[in-house]
Amino acid sequence: MISVIGVGITKFGELWDMSPRALARQAGSAALKDAGLEASDIDAFVVANMLSGMLGSQEHLGALFAEELGLSHIPAWKVEGACASGGLAIHAAVNSLLGGQYKRIMVLGIEKMTDHKPEHVSSALIGAGTSEERLSGITFPGVYALLARAHMEKYGTIQEEMAAVAVKNHYHASLNPLAQFHTLLTLEKVMKSACVADPFKLLDCSPLSDGAAAVILQKAEGGRQKTDVQIISSQVATDTLGVAQRKDMTKLLATEIAAQKAYKEAGLSPKDIDVAEVHDCFTIAEILAMEDLGFYEKGKAAKAIAKGETMLGSSKGFVVNTSGGLKGCGHPVGATGVKQIVEMTEQLRGKAGKRQVEGARIGLTQNVGGSGATSVVHILKK
Ligand code: COA
Repeated sequence: MISVIGVGITKFGELWDMSPRALARQAGSAALKDAGLEASDIDAFVVANMLSGMLGSQEHLGALFAEELGLSHIPAWKVEGACASGGLAIHAAVNSLLGGQYKRIMVLGIEKMTDHKPEHVSSALIGAGTSEERLSGITFPGVYALLARAHMEKYGTIQEEMAAVAVKNHYHASLNPLAQFHTLLTLEKVMKSACVADPFKLLDCSPLSDGAAAVILQKAEGGRQKTDVQIISSQVATDTLGVAQRKDMTKLLATEIAAQKAYKEAGLSPKDIDVAEVHDCFTIAEILAMEDLGFYEKGKAAKAIAKGETMLGSSKGFVVNTSGGLKGCGHPVGATGVKQIVEMTEQLRGKAGKRQVEGARIGLTQNVGGSGATSVVHILKK
């Protein structure tokens, strides 16, 4: 098993006064401080990022940020898997530690999106899709809008139910000092926001964001502290890149497969999970996640979310996206999967402040790449 021994995170948002190096320094040093370690205690370094090469012409991020953090001469490399880069980097680190070559690994997820023109960012993001999707001119809101339409047709899901995801996650974000948005939403406000890709309104979409998050992982054997949070399962599955090639557009098969493998590895079922951070890049994505992760039967999640079942304070005691999710906390794509582990660690340590889920012992994170071609599921426990 793997212990999370240190976490660090920057604010998420439009951080025009911070360079990628400054973001890396802030998140990385915070993780070292949290773990009570020096840079020289880290044996290997994994960076999660999607867009730095395409938008900023900067590659070679392993060595670049290792230098910035004073991680002298250690092995360092980048992992890319679109918006699932962070989750994949954690998975790579977990397996490198289990392989026994390294004792402690730092994972840094980082993205700088808002220094660039939104149309350039949209084009770069759809690099995670197929060439047919790109040639058709579709962008990610458009791809997920197709999934939303399919779900609406098959299960009768309505726009107000999707809007309820945004209302919940903005409420959670309002309790998170590091979140991009602190504005509370109403269903009416979401429904009246500008149409981006029918049926999505502006407020159904995650924003463009800057930010970084870092975690330090260590093999749990021997030196495990009672307070450590452990990663008890790390699973990845893939599916076709293009949505048109999928047999069923009302679910993310990769999430279903990764989740089943994760529950099996952890010896747990969805009922055992107290708190989850899931990939709500668009409001429909959280509804799909709730169903594909086995928390609700197909077609039942939207109504449950709209009733407030997964919101802080709900009597059900199972809460989703306490950080504010991608929607409210922000979605600097390469950082998101690492941020999910940071949030889950804070929850399981009982240190999540106003967003604490009382008595949370077992947490799950789900990080998706593209329109669902990669899905990474982690299960953590106190
Ligand atoms: N949620 C809430 N508010 C948002 C927002 C969002 N997703 N996106 C922008 N805003 C706010 C801005 O803060 C700004 O507010 P202000 O006027 O008070 O400053 C206002 O809305 C207009 O912002 P702007 O930057 O002009 O928006 P935009 O039209 O350039 O971009 C989207 C809006 C939805 C198109 C863009 O956020 C987007 O592409 N999101 C999806 C990103 C994505 O695909 N990620 C990968 C997922 S797989």
